[in-house]
Amino acid sequence: MPQTGHLRQEWDTELSPPPPEDWESEAREWEYVGIVGEATDSYWMKRCVPSLLIYLHGLISVLSYEVKWKNWQRNDAMGTNTTWQRSSVDMKDEERFWDRERADERAVEAKESLDLKIGLEPDQPWHDDITHEVQNAYVEKAIESRRRGSREYYGNWEEIVHITEGDSDDDQHDGESARSASPEIQEVQRNLCRELQTKWNQAIRLAGAAALDIISSPDEQIPPGLEDFEYCENHYVRAEGVDHPDPTAFLVGCECHQGCKRIQSCDCQAGSDMVNEAGERQYAYNSEHIFKFNLSPGVEVVECNSLCNCPDTCQNRVAQRPRDVPMEVFHTGDHGWGVCATVQLPVGKVLGIYTGNLIHRRDAEGLSEEHRSYIFDLDAHEMEDDTSNMQQYSVDSFHHGNWSRFINHSCEPNMKVYPVIWDTVAELNQPYLAFVTTKQVPARTELTIDYNPKDTATYSYNKSKGKSRIPKGAKPCKCGTEKCRGWVTV
Ligand SMILES: C[S@@+](CC[C@H](N)C(=O)[O-])C[C@H]1O[C@@H](n2cnc3c(N)ncnc32)[C@H](O)[C@@H]1O
Ligand SMILES: [Zn+2]
Ligand SMILES: [Zn+2]
Ligand SMILES: [Zn+2]
Repeated sequence: MPQTGHLRQEWDTELSPPPPEDWESEAREWEYVGIVGEATDSYWMKRCVPSLLIYLHGLISVLSYEVKWKNWQRNDAMGTNTTWQRSSVDMKDEERFWDRERADERAVEAKESLDLKIGLEPDQPWHDDITHEVQNAYVEKAIESRRRGSREYYGNWEEIVHITEGDSDDDQHDGESARSASPEIQEVQRNLCRELQTKWNQAIRLAGAAALDIISSPDEQIPPGLEDFEYCENHYVRAEGVDHPDPTAFLVGCECHQGCKRIQSCDCQAGSDMVNEAGERQYAYNSEHIFKFNLSPGVEVVECNSLCNCPDTCQNRVAQRPRDVPMEVFHTGDHGWGVCATVQLPVGKVLGIYTGNLIHRRDAEGLSEEHRSYIFDLDAHEMEDDTSNMQQYSVDSFHHGNWSRFINHSCEPNMKVYPVIWDTVAELNQPYLAFVTTKQVPARTELTIDYNPKDTATYSYNKSKGKSRIPKGAKPCKCGTEKCRGWVTV
């Protein structure tokens, strides 16, 4: 069992300072080898940080780490080479790596077995020790059992935690109480949502975009991937090896001073393949910045760029502008968390772009199924018969991303995605994917896209027939629309 020994209770482990810097009169700082263990203080956590927060927010949960030092040994009979350190700014990267490794191990353990390991101090009830709960992946097992739809295993897990806090035992196993979390856990969920909302809105304000609220749903877990999430409103974070060549080296700007109105003289459009039936070049947006749906398959919108003379308000600068529609993330009830705008939206309204970690498509293959469901392939502009040897990319919004990572699938969606560029050229195959409404959308209506648009095109509406043809790896679809084909490939 990999995590045994990683967690210690703090009453066993006094905090100890790092090795003294002055060693045999020669000023010397010790290099650390890495983190080899972590201590948690059950009593402190139990009073101040309820258990769920521990799982979801590693930085708060872990009080101290056992650190191994290079070329140093304690000058005593034991001769150990580790000290106990409080979490510190210097060690943040190490801590993150450590925390993620532990979380991964617990997730693997939960997938392998839902059995609880009970057994602590002889006189201590198992549920009284949060360290033990964390160590044995209880939260992960509770989540996993919910995913499998087997509420009976851990449906009332959160309730059991509170037996020691004066509750009577009588109603702990009641089926109904299993459906709603205890007030303390609900409070944790609310705090967590507030914390994420504050942090994300700092990034949003810096990007000049409209607010994003998270409506807490106290009985629901926050979705996966957010423990260490970086919100990025309108740029990609690039994985190692995914370069962004200097755009000024290959972009062409236009000379239009008042905003771009005459496409014939708008030089940045020279490379655009957006043409009408007569072969004349077209802008993708009208003067109100509304998308005209005049894009052919395999073609991307070319917006004005940093070398263009036109102002920020140019009609050909839309997806690149900061999002001006305020959004809300909320729990949908049966298909996880979703997102909606808080205002009514007209048809053709461009809402923003899909952001995240820009990776080589082949690197998505080894990721877990859950992680992969947050990956969007940049293939909207790749033609089916595309035989060129272009690099292929995907955007992974599991650990980096914005509001759009919460967009769910619908067989009758109210948005579409189109590829658009402004700081790159088409040949690099790294467009942004922009979301545009295809219907008038009332305020607070869930925003959706079709995850499998090619399947919709070929699907003849017939529920029973549709179900019998569920592709391998697809999930039952919960979009609830009349045209639901019964499954969705995520
Ligand atoms: C990109 S995430 C969308 C946000 C997600 N609901 C959440 O809570 O974070 C994709 C995942 O949402 C769920 N999902 C999206 N659309 C769905 C649908 N129509 N029916 C069932 N599950 C859906 C699936 O679990 C899928 O793996
Ligand atoms: Zn312009
Ligand atoms: Zn122009
Ligand atoms: Zn231009």
